Amino acid sequence: MIVSGDVNRELKKRAAAKAVELIKPGMVVGIGHGSTAIEAVYCLASLFETGKIRDIVVVPCSNHMVEETRKLGIPMSTLEEHPVVDLTIDGADEVDPQLNLIKGGGGAFLHEKILAEASRREIIIVDETKLSPILGTRWAVPVEVISFGWRSQAEYLQTLGATVKLRQDSSCNPIKTDQGNLILDCRFGPIADPVRLAGQIKGRAGIVEHGLFLGLASEVIVGCRSGVCHLKR
Ligand code: 5RP
Repeated sequence: MIVSGDVNRELKKRAAAKAVELIKPGMVVGIGHGSTAIEAVYCLASLFETGKIRDIVVVPCSNHMVEETRKLGIPMSTLEEHPVVDLTIDGADEVDPQLNLIKGGGGAFLHEKILAEASRREIIIVDETKLSPILGTRWAVPVEVISFGWRSQAEYLQTLGATVKLRQDSSCNPIKTDQGNLILDCRFGPIADPVRLAGQIKGRAGIVEHGLFLGLASEVIVGCRSGVCHLKR
C-alpha cells in the first residue's frame, strides 16, 4: 500500500526502474541530479549486486551524484574519458507535451545540459505531477550567472518579463553551483515561445546557461498511479 507522503517517491521509483531496463552491457550511462535520478542509481546498484547488469560505466553529472554513485560501488567514469554517452537518465521539473523541459530545481542544469547534449539518448524520468500543458505554468526558469555583475543580469532578465529571485539557502546565503556560479530563478509564467525566450536569455555576457531543455529529451518515462507511461518524440 502507498501512504500519501510516499506517493511521489513510489512514482519516481517506477519511472526509474523502467528507465534502467533500457541499459545494456557495454553502455556508458549518464546520470543527472535530483531525487528522481537518484532512484535510477539505487535501481542500478541493486541490479549490480544481483549480477543482473554488468559491464557498464556511469557518468554522474554533479559532485553529489559522484559521491552517491561511489558509495554504492557502481563503476564510474567522466565525460573527459567518455565524451559520447550512450544513454542518460535524468529528472525534470516540468515537461510539456512536446517533451520540452524546465530543469534545474536541484541547481545542476549546466552539467545536466552538457551531459544531455553529449548523449545519444536522453531519458527523462518524472512522476506524473511534472506534466504541464505549457512550460512556466508552475516552475521558474533557473538561470546560472557568474557572480561578477549578477545584478545586471537580474535587471536584464526582468526586461524579458521575469520576476527574478536569487537562489539562497535557509540562512539567506547565495547557493553556489558546482561551477561556483549563482542561480537566478526567473518566473515568467506560461511561456508561449520557449525557443525565442531561450535565445533571448543566452544573449548576454555573464549568463552561463538556463534550465530550458528544448528538443533534448528523446523520451520521457512517467511514473503514474496507474503504472508507467512511456512518451517518445
Ligand atoms: C536538477 C534537476 C532535477 O532533475 C529536477 O530539479 C527534478 O528534481 P527531482 O527529481 O528531485 O524532482 O534538474 O538540476
